[in-house]
Order: sequence, then structure tokens, then C-alpha cells
Amino acid sequence: MVTQINQQELQKIVKAVPMLSPSASRLLQITANPDHDLVEVVNLVKTDANLTARVLKVINSAAFGMANQITSIDRAIAYLGERIIISIAIGDSAGKLFGKELSGYEAAGGDLWKHDLRAAIAAREVVAQSGLDISTELAFTAGLLHDIGKALISDYLQGSVTEAVALISQEEQPHDYLAAEKKLVGFDHTEAGYELAKAWQLPDELAEVIRYHHEPARANEEYRALVYAVHLGDNIAMMGGFGTGADSMRYKLDPGYVNYIKLSPNTLENIMLTVDMEFEKLEESFSDSGEKN
Ligand SMILES: [Fe+2]
Ligand SMILES: [Fe+2]
Repeated sequence: MVTQINQQELQKIVKAVPMLSPSASRLLQITANPDHDLVEVVNLVKTDANLTARVLKVINSAAFGMANQITSIDRAIAYLGERIIISIAIGDSAGKLFGKELSGYEAAGGDLWKHDLRAAIAAREVVAQSGLDISTELAFTAGLLHDIGKALISDYLQGSVTEAVALISQEEQPHDYLAAEKKLVGFDHTEAGYELAKAWQLPDELAEVIRYHHEPARANEEYRALVYAVHLGDNIAMMGGFGTGADSMRYKLDPGYVNYIKLSPNTLENIMLTVDMEFEKLEESFSDSGEKN
């Protein structure tokens, strides 16, 4: 049964979501700064015993095939790279949200995490391959968080898939699931996610991606290239067959990305292959280490 929510109710829903852990929150702040140093990440992880243990578990998982047990956190982080540390911190802190079954989209538990992880890898590759002057790690984090609003409104969309799809086909511009969400629930997943971004005090760049990843042309000019990178990453994830259920491929692709991102068709193909390979490795490392999201 679809339920309409108003602004006050949305605030209540957001308030009920646990805050990110202080170290996950700080990690997102540090890595959003393009001039940050890996040492800052290492020092932060060292202040969090739980995160340290998780990172060591992941590096020593079968996925990385280390000959000897790694016990040094400095070595582990240098080897794994910041994106894996960010995934572990966010997964630990908000794993329940990412692992939630999205019944309103007819998606199974874990589908959101898989979609986000693939969008994150793709967004990072888009930035790396197009030579954009943006931190690749920031693009990764933004990809990881872009659809978090779906976890907030999914319950209210329950049983609405047929209705949502019918609404889209009546729209003048097809393939816009956002409009259907908004009509049915009162908010779309980008608006709901943006409220959570504010509550979590995420850096502005990340909040902007969450809010405009389906309408990148509306993003603040300062962050627009990053928003376009995640917009592409999101579409690459969906094209690869990893959406979040009923809404997959039911969004507009903004061709305006070409003004910000220069990619040859070959590069796009390579990115899709990289996404497959990296995703498998990350998935394996998380499941080996008991990281079930
Ligand atoms: Fe989305
Ligand atoms: Fe998405």
C-alpha cells in the first residue's frame, strides 16, 4: 500500500536513521578534499579500533591472496587504497540501510549496495579516464552514496510498481521514475537522500550528487562535472544489469555530459569491463571478511 508522506514525516524518517560513525563522517570530509594526504586517512583509521580490525580482516581475506598475514594498518591502507577503506567505513556505519530489502522497488536485500558499489567504481573510472580535475576517491564515495534516498522511501512505495510504471508511460517525457516516486509518495529518492545528507552533515559535493544525480544540469556549477560523472556511473551500473529493481533504466540520460566528460566509445567499453572486475574483487573481499551488507 503506497503511503504519502509530508515534509514533517520525512524529517521523522531521516531522524530515525542512525548517524554515521564519527570516523566514517571524518573520513568522508578528509577524502572530499582533493589535496588531502593518505597519512590523514591512516591516522584517522588508527583512532578507530573497530575500523582498524575490519580493514585488517579485509586485507587478509582470500580475495587479496596475501602470502603473509598483514598486521600493519599503514601497509593495509596503502595496499587497499582509499576507496576500499571508505567502503568498509560506510558499510560498517550504515550497512543496515544499504543492505535493506527495497520492497517498494521489488529489489532484494543487498541490491542497493551492489548497485551503489558498481556505480561508485564506474564514476571513479569515468573521472580517471576522462582526466577530470576531480578526486577519483570523491567520485567513488559519491557513487556509493548516490541512491541512499531509496532506502528511506522504499517502504512507502510498497506495492506501487505497476502504478509507478503506468504513471511513467503517461508522462510526456518517458523514463522518469523520479516523477512517479514524487506523485506516489510526495518525495523522490533524490529529495529524501538530500535530507539525509544534510542530517549526516555530508560535504556539499556529496549532498549535491545525491540531490541531482538524475538531473545533473541543475547541480551547482562548481560540482556539476562530479555530478555528471556519477550520473554516468549510475547509468553504467544499470546498463550492466545491476539496478535496484523496478526502476532500473527508467531514468533519463542527460546527453549534456559530453560538455563535461570526454570519453571515446572504446573507453566506455573498458570502463564497463573494469567495473565487472573490480566489483567481483570488492564483493569477494567483503564476503570473505564477514562483511555482509
Ligand atoms: Fe538514483
Ligand atoms: Fe542509481
